[in-house]
Amino acid sequence: MVSQRANSLAASETLKITALAKEMKRAGKQVISLSAGEPDFKTPDYICEAAIQAIRDGHHGYTMNTGTPELREAIASKLKRDNALDYTPEQIIVSNGAKQSVGFTLLATVNNGDEVIIPAPYWVSYPEMVKLAEGIPVIVKTSFEHQYKLTPEQLESAITDKTRALILCSPSNPTGSCYTADELKALAAVLLKHPNIYVISDEIYEYIVFDDEHVSIGQAEPAIMPQLLLINGFSKGFAMTGWRLGYLAGPSDVVKAVSKIQSQETSAPCTISQMAGEAAYRGSLDAVNAMRDSFKKRRDFVVDALNAIPGVACFRPGGAFYVFPEISAYLGTKTPDGQTITTSTELVMYLLENFGIATVPGDAFGEPGGIRLSYAIAMEDLQKAVVQLKEGLLSLQK
Ligand SMILES: Cc1ncc(COP(=O)(O)O)c(C=O)c1O
Repeated sequence: MVSQRANSLAASETLKITALAKEMKRAGKQVISLSAGEPDFKTPDYICEAAIQAIRDGHHGYTMNTGTPELREAIASKLKRDNALDYTPEQIIVSNGAKQSVGFTLLATVNNGDEVIIPAPYWVSYPEMVKLAEGIPVIVKTSFEHQYKLTPEQLESAITDKTRALILCSPSNPTGSCYTADELKALAAVLLKHPNIYVISDEIYEYIVFDDEHVSIGQAEPAIMPQLLLINGFSKGFAMTGWRLGYLAGPSDVVKAVSKIQSQETSAPCTISQMAGEAAYRGSLDAVNAMRDSFKKRRDFVVDALNAIPGVACFRPGGAFYVFPEISAYLGTKTPDGQTITTSTELVMYLLENFGIATVPGDAFGEPGGIRLSYAIAMEDLQKAVVQLKEGLLSLQK
């Protein structure tokens, strides 16, 4: 007997694919996985050393619920250094990852029946987290032509009396798109007319940006600061997914409310991870930039390779380690044994079962016309993967 709350959550569509991919690998089949949501690098040494030192120095106890003052100071300095944003350590609460910060921020700001605007394609957890907070996810479809970015007009027309927040993710999972300063300023202009609406800005892929500088909406439009709930963390840029470390920076009343929830649910994250995070932000970003450069080479390769496949269109995304090619030309086609492929989920299953390529269907992200490929894998695997992907798609008949 489980609660209605648990029952109301969608089971992850990606799990089915992941489980099948694992089963196939166990059965000795060759599978190349393009579904990973994490860097394929190890955490840089200087960060690991700081953690080892923390263990040796006996930092084995709990920290303050909001995180160590030293880490929160390091985060405040980072927000100043990288984003030109002014936060005091009291306006920052450290968590077990950006995911927890998004979830607790929603719990702290959303009342029963409040609406939260989520541009699609979206990161799978956002709508489910909004539902857990008893809010209503308002999904706004964006267009391929606009690199799946929300326009001010779309935002304006989605706002109602019940709107509590907008969730923005730049660079985006699943599309890799990055909002420019001008685009963020234009969205902020709409939000400024509605001071009761928060913008939850998930900037977890900040350090994986290839062509332009990452811009936070608070930097593009400083007047938005009282409405900005900035979420970030260490998982992606520093290849620290397993360390579980993220944070929220925002107005004190929201940070205090999140702190109350966190104190009853989880307390602060692992002390060793916090000391590692401090080293990450105090140290040089050379290792981070080297990983970014490696991702950039793979992005360029994969975008060119995808665009060379008939019926596939892929823009060159500015960040993260995902591409989200448009594949709707392959929906409605037939497999060699006469099955019709009607959805991106069916397409992804077909590619996995017959061509050993694991991707994630756009259906999971609220955009049925695409599929998500993660290029956080070795270049030689990526090269093989696109050959098999092409073969798989071309085996389908109109
Ligand atoms: C957009 C987005 N936000 C947050 C997270 C979670 O980050 P963390 O590992 O810090 O919880 C992810 C991880 O996949 C993500 O893609």
